[in-house]
Amino acid sequence: MKQLENDTFLRALRRQPTDYTPVWLMRQAGRYLPEYRATRATAGSFMDLCRNAAFATEVTLQPLARFPLDAAILFSDILTVPDAMGLGLSFAEGEGPRFARPLRDEHAIKSLYVPDMAALKYVFDAVSEIRHALKGSVPLIGFSGSPFTLACYMVEGAGSDDFRHIKALMYSRPDLLHHLLAINARTVTTYLNTQIENGAQAVMLFDTWGGVLSTAAYREFSLAYMRQIVAGLKREQDGEHVPVVLFTKGGGQWLEDMADTGCDALGLDWTVDGAGARARVGDRVALQGNLDPGVLMGSADQVAAETCRVLDTFGPQPGHVFNLGHGISQYAPYDNVSVLVSTVHAHSRNQRRFAKG
Ligand code: CP3
Repeated sequence: MKQLENDTFLRALRRQPTDYTPVWLMRQAGRYLPEYRATRATAGSFMDLCRNAAFATEVTLQPLARFPLDAAILFSDILTVPDAMGLGLSFAEGEGPRFARPLRDEHAIKSLYVPDMAALKYVFDAVSEIRHALKGSVPLIGFSGSPFTLACYMVEGAGSDDFRHIKALMYSRPDLLHHLLAINARTVTTYLNTQIENGAQAVMLFDTWGGVLSTAAYREFSLAYMRQIVAGLKREQDGEHVPVVLFTKGGGQWLEDMADTGCDALGLDWTVDGAGARARVGDRVALQGNLDPGVLMGSADQVAAETCRVLDTFGPQPGHVFNLGHGISQYAPYDNVSVLVSTVHAHSRNQRRFAKG
């Protein structure tokens, strides 16, 4: 296997020294880029982009052609998994995702199964084609939704602002929710392991909705299943360690619990202070984050200033990957992304220079 030209991201996840802080952005391929919108129009729809390896590869590489990012992330969606379980995913223009057959009763939940990975072959084909197209320039990140976050969409049938269906299930038939989560956890473990076998060099679990839970419910219904997945993942491929990143949005108060799962790194949303997070988890894990994505809506000067501020909270010591605290907005001006990436590289080099004295 060819050595990576730029392995800064993987080194930072292993908490090894790097010359600068690596950076990538959640949703770095997306609607804020005119070239993404053009490819999506050619493909027809968002899911047509995901289902076609050539299109998925093209849009994955678009942000890397514009900005010197230190990692690529597979272009796909977390909801491909429940779609493969037969729930019938669609994305209506201007609306969020929707499932034709949400899980609303005992029969639907008891009929659920771990899907044949053949139904997700288009994802694995995209992984291998992207890995090939990257030509060893930067590492490729694979990903999945967490069992709980997937369950939110599977039970609600769409995005939600009150999560009343899944909470009704949680607080009336916890046994059924556990049944669903156990199936999701087995599915996600196989799904991520197959991404790793096809070329993903790091994987990230997106627990976008774990933060809507109480501490007790988070441990029981989200964290426990992420721990199972971490324990079941292939952690070495082609002689290289494959790091796992856990990201619970709104999970700032549970960092110690998250670090105890055996993952390599924690994703932090923007409400968490970097220095405080580091003090709490010590050197057990690397940290990834955590600029408020809203900063990108401001002036270029403020983007640079806030980027430096975030870097300063983490300091020059190894084990930090710069990212936003959540996905980039479709309204973010891409010139600000340029400022962000160059500021991360320049300021983090300076931090190391000053640290040496
Ligand atoms: O980070 C990347 O660049 C990789 C691609 C990626 C997408 N979705 C592409 C996408 C990743 C990692 C995701 C994860 C995802 N998808 C999550 C977890 C992360 C998070 O943001 O919290 C969730 C909750 C979803 C579900 C989902 N997909 C929603 C709610 C939506 C609609 C919201 C929106 O922004 O329109 C999507 C669609 C989606 N996924 C788009 C992209 C680029 C926009 C589709 C379009 O082109 O219109």
